[in-house]
Amino acid sequence: MKTPKQFVIRGGRPLHGEVEISGAKNAVVAILPATLLSDEPCIIENVPEISDVDISLRILRELGAKVRYLSPHTYEIDTREVMSYTVPYESARKMRASYYFMGALLGRFGHCRVSMPGGCPLGDRPIDQHLKAFKKLGAIAKVERGMVDITTPESGLQGTQIFFDCVTVGATMNAILAAVKAEGLTVIENAAKEPHIVDLASFLNSMGADIMGAGTDTIKIRGTKYLRGTSYAVIPDQIEAGTYMVAAAATGGNVLVKNVIPKHLESIINVMEKIGVKIEQFDDAVRVSADGPLVKTSIKTRPHPGFPTDMQPQISALLCLAEGTSMIKEGVSEQRFQYVDELRRMGADIQVDGKVAVIEGTGHLTGAPVKACDLRAGAALMIAGLAASGVTTIEDIYHIERGYADMEGKLRALGACIEKKTVCQDAVQHDVIVRQDAV
Ligand code: EPZ
Repeated sequence: MKTPKQFVIRGGRPLHGEVEISGAKNAVVAILPATLLSDEPCIIENVPEISDVDISLRILRELGAKVRYLSPHTYEIDTREVMSYTVPYESARKMRASYYFMGALLGRFGHCRVSMPGGCPLGDRPIDQHLKAFKKLGAIAKVERGMVDITTPESGLQGTQIFFDCVTVGATMNAILAAVKAEGLTVIENAAKEPHIVDLASFLNSMGADIMGAGTDTIKIRGTKYLRGTSYAVIPDQIEAGTYMVAAAATGGNVLVKNVIPKHLESIINVMEKIGVKIEQFDDAVRVSADGPLVKTSIKTRPHPGFPTDMQPQISALLCLAEGTSMIKEGVSEQRFQYVDELRRMGADIQVDGKVAVIEGTGHLTGAPVKACDLRAGAALMIAGLAASGVTTIEDIYHIERGYADMEGKLRALGACIEKKTVCQDAVQHDVIVRQDAV
C-alpha cells in the first residue's frame, strides 16, 4: 500500500510564466494498447509521465511485450512475442482505459479476456456499446465473474456497419481497434469526434492502416492484414492545457501555455472569453490573463466539439470566483458533481439538482482540508486552492497523478506555493506544519 500523499497549497498568488503541456492521457491510453496490432516494433513519443501510462505499460509487459525506455517521454514497444490475451482484474481495475485492451487483443488474436474496467466514479459507466461493436464484427462476448470474455468464429472478424446508440469515446476507440485488421469494410456511425480519436486513427494509419473520417461522426475502416512499425508522437493534452488556462485565470495571473493545438481548445477558449478571461492564440501556445472581473455564465458540457465534460469541475471552480449566478449542465456523464461538497468546504455556494449545478459566485474562496474524489475533481480543488486565501490541503492526490504529469513542479515554476507531503498516519490535519519557505 503506497504511503498516502497530499498537496499543501498556500493560495492567493497570481500564476506567472510558462507551462509546457504533456502528451494527451486519453490518447496515449488507447495508443499503447494499439501497439498490440503492430507486426513490427513501434516508437511512441511525447508520452506523459502519469500513472495511467505506468499501468498501461505494466499490462503490456504482463502480456509479454518488450517495453524499452529510450529517453524522456519516449518508449519502444515490441509486441511480436505477445502470446497472452488475458488482462487480469488486478491490473484492469485501476483505470477505465484498460477496456482498450479488449479491442486491441480482439483485433490481434480474435480473443480476449479482460476484467471489467475501473476508473473515475462518474455514475453509471456501462460498456454495452463496446460489446455491441464487437458483436457486430462477429465476435461472441460474455461477462462472467467480472471478466469480459470475447471470442471470434474461425472466419475471424468481418467488416460491418456499426451505429452507436449514444456518442461514446471509449466504444468508438474500441471499434476502431477491433476493426482495423478485420476482413473488409467497417463503417462506424454516430462516432465520437474527440481529438484523441483522431490521434488513435493517425497512429494506426502511420502503421499502414486504412482509416478515414476520424473526427467526424462517420468513420470508415478497410481491414489491413499487416501493420508495420512506426515512430509516433502523441498529441498535446487538451484537458491539461484547459486546466492550466483556468488556473491562470482563477489566480488573476498571466501564463503562456505552450505545446498546445489551439484548434483543440476552441470550446474552452470560447467559454473562458465569455467569463471575461483574455486569451491570445499563437501557433502552438495560448497566453491567458485575467486582470478584470470574472463574469457569470451558463455552460452545458457536450461531446466534442462542445465544451468537454472533463473541464466541467475546473470551470465550476472558476465560476465560484465570478460575480453573480452561473449555471452548469452536465450533458455527458451520469454524475459529475461529487466535488461540489469539497468546494463548499472552501466557501463555495453551489446548489446541485440532478445534472444541473447553480453557482452563486462569491468572488472569494478560503483554504480548507479537502479530498479529491476523481481526476478532474482533484484538478478543480487544486485550482480553488491556488485562488483561495490561506492554506488548502488536498488528500487522495493519486487521482490527480493519474492524468497530470508533475503538476506540483509545473505549478511551482509558475510561482505557486505548493508542496507534496506524505500524510503521516498520526498527523492531525490542522497540525500539518506548513513551512513558510515552501508553501
Ligand atoms: C472517456 O470516458 C474519457 N476517458 C473520459 O475522461 C471522458 O470523460 C469521456 O470519455 C467523455 O469525453 C478515457 O478516454 C480513458 P464515453 P468513456 O464512453 O470512454 C455512456 C478523464 O477525466 N456510455 O464517451 O468512459 C456513458 O455512460 C476521463 O480523463 C454508454 O451508455 O466515456 C457516458 O454517460 C473521465 N454505453 C457517455 O456514454 C457505453 O458502452 C459517455 O461515455 C459507453 C458509454
